[in-house]
Amino acid sequence: MKKVKVIIVGNSHVGKTCLISQYLDSSFQLEYQTTTAPDKSIKKVNISNTEISLEIWDTAGQDNYAIANKIFMKKADIALIVYDITDKASFEGLQNWYNRVVEINDKKKVVFGIAGNKSDLFEKQVVSTEDGQNFSKNINALFFETSAKDHGSVEKAFNGLAQEYYHQYLERQKMEKEEEKKMGEEEKKEDNVVLDENKHKESVIKEEKKKRRC
Ligand code: GTP
Repeated sequence: MKKVKVIIVGNSHVGKTCLISQYLDSSFQLEYQTTTAPDKSIKKVNISNTEISLEIWDTAGQDNYAIANKIFMKKADIALIVYDITDKASFEGLQNWYNRVVEINDKKKVVFGIAGNKSDLFEKQVVSTEDGQNFSKNINALFFETSAKDHGSVEKAFNGLAQEYYHQYLERQKMEKEEEKKMGEEEKKEDNVVLDENKHKESVIKEEKKKRRC
């Protein structure tokens, strides 16, 4: 079974823990509890008849846990960056979270998603859907507006990202195979050139021997 590491990051209080609970067992907790240490949950999903195990890492949004977060943000396959549609500062924090994930994962390819959470509070919305879409477009991320409270688009976000990851993974594998095939053909060509050269040398030597005998 293919294991895929998913990290959820974003400012404190945007609803990261609640999104995970909603995705895992359709539960929602109204009372806020700060996440102090990163925590892993597993969810199995089926994509194109392949079972995939999503290892979902909830991280702490508060800056005093940044060092602990760093370790768990490494080797991510998917990063979901969350903001709260009723909190402008959380939207402004997106770029910083994106930079951190990119920096920590060095050159590793990470599939990014942006979730504008708390869509059930639309009457208090201060970050427009368009702003969320534009930011996502700029960093080449998938965009979702979610509600961890009423389940809105939560599954769509996690499953959509898993699908995108798997699609890119298959594409990479296909390209690697084609590259290997190409290299094999190049090597064969080079071997044939050497063989032809050797044959040519042999025939020249034979010719010279013949001439000498005459
Ligand atoms: P940190 O652990 O500090 O990083 O916070 P967090 O991002 O994990 O936030 P958490 O999931 O703990 O949620 C923070 C508060 O927002 C809680 O009181 C939740 O009940 C509330 N909340 C989370 N998601 C939603 C949502 O979609 N709608 C509404 N109305 N409230 C939400």
